[in-house]
Amino acid sequence: MKKRTKIMVVENDLATKNVIGGALVAEGYDVVTTETQKEALTLLAEASIDILVADINFPKTEGVNFLREIKQSFPEMKVILMSVNGSADSIAYAMQEGVCDCLTKPFSMNKLLLVVNRLLRMRALEVENVSLRKRVGEQYGFGGLVGRSPRMLQIYDTIETVSQTDATVLISGESGTGKELAANAIHLLSNRKNAPFVKVNCAALPETLLETELFGHERGAFTGAIRQRRGRFELADTGTLFLDEIGDLPLSVQVKLLRVLQERQFERVGGNETISVDVRLICATLKDLKNEIQRGAFREDLYYRLNVVPISLPPLKERKEDILPLIDYFATRISKKMGKKVKGVSEEAKTLLYKYPFPGNIRELENIMERAIALLKGDMIKPEDLPDDVRDQGKSQSIVCERIMELKQLGEAVSIFEKEYIQNVLKATKGKKGQAAEILGISRKNLWEKIKSLEIEI
Ligand SMILES: Nc1ncnc2c1ncn2[C@@H]1O[C@H](COP(=O)(O)OP(=O)(O)OP(=O)(O)O)[C@@H](O)[C@H]1O
Ligand SMILES: [Mg+2]
Repeated sequence: MKKRTKIMVVENDLATKNVIGGALVAEGYDVVTTETQKEALTLLAEASIDILVADINFPKTEGVNFLREIKQSFPEMKVILMSVNGSADSIAYAMQEGVCDCLTKPFSMNKLLLVVNRLLRMRALEVENVSLRKRVGEQYGFGGLVGRSPRMLQIYDTIETVSQTDATVLISGESGTGKELAANAIHLLSNRKNAPFVKVNCAALPETLLETELFGHERGAFTGAIRQRRGRFELADTGTLFLDEIGDLPLSVQVKLLRVLQERQFERVGGNETISVDVRLICATLKDLKNEIQRGAFREDLYYRLNVVPISLPPLKERKEDILPLIDYFATRISKKMGKKVKGVSEEAKTLLYKYPFPGNIRELENIMERAIALLKGDMIKPEDLPDDVRDQGKSQSIVCERIMELKQLGEAVSIFEKEYIQNVLKATKGKKGQAAEILGISRKNLWEKIKSLEIEI
């Protein structure tokens, strides 16, 4: 059964409270009424309310505190404020405090019902958007992130949650694990998605340039500063700033960054004007920042400011179940980009890739696939299309079982095993089928049939 919409009315004038409550009940809503803010907070904690219609002393402190508490504890609830003194300023202020609509008394019940209706439609849309995002994530990989291993699913969850806030995120992980992609996903899922996503690689610039790059400079700040220049913080205003390789940020710039995080304010190099920005910060590091702190190369206070929400991307070798989906994803994407017809990757090649430890993580897998497809003669990627490092470990035994056991249905697993095992026996007998059939304990005819049906190359 569809849940009925629950509305709470907070109104200290008994007669008005009854009129509003009555009108809402008549429309079929579940209504809870109360006369005090204090009681409202208690009731809100007990019932799940969709819309709150409240007459509070706004913008007096008491009213503002009430709204802030609501925004913090019930961020999804829609709030309609009654009886704000109707000035544009106080309405704007109320909106800032999370209020969705303001009604100045006296107002007709029709007007109230219209507003309630609009907010309910808005809420339904928000719910739809969340589930749409989830579906998009499943089909194409979450924000471009492919792989559904338990550890990645957990990370998608964190990304989804944190994207709905402005909290600073610190992404750590080995090279090529997808740190930048994760930062991108957070931005794209946030409501800053239409504002700029600005990236700075802290390892790529010398100390002096980095400071002006981040904070900008005034005209004449140094020789060669012929005009004023806005820094990346300003360029990222209302959007997201991604500081990559934050572990390489020089100590002098760390101090300045700390201040921005504390006060959201800074001055351009060589300037006095204080600039305020609204920027969501995401940082990434492949260094262990705790080690850097011990070495005296990273400020501890800055670390705690940055590490509000940590996301640690596991190396590919710790989420082997993602390897095959990634292979398929890259095979499709790269062959399309290069305009080449690629049917897929042979089981033997997949086995080798599955076994490989990928020190360069997903970037390395992507490069391997790119190279293989660029040089591919036929339409199937085979072991000989893979780099030596990957091929060489084929010499070790039983890798086929390791992969098959985790990922395949029995019938398919048996076929893969049969194929590779028959191939091994044929290799050992130098292609002599009679001998191979004998070892395998099957007839020559049967062996021929298997060679054909399993597409075994001899
Ligand atoms: N889960 C994933 N699904 C699909 N592609 C991925 C995934 N993770 C990473 N990639 C791809 O791998 C490459 C490396 O990813 P990215 O640049 O985000 O890694 P990084 O951790 O920032 O690496 P580095 O530390 O070297 O800068 C990119 O081309 C990216 O598109
Ligand atoms: Mg990177």
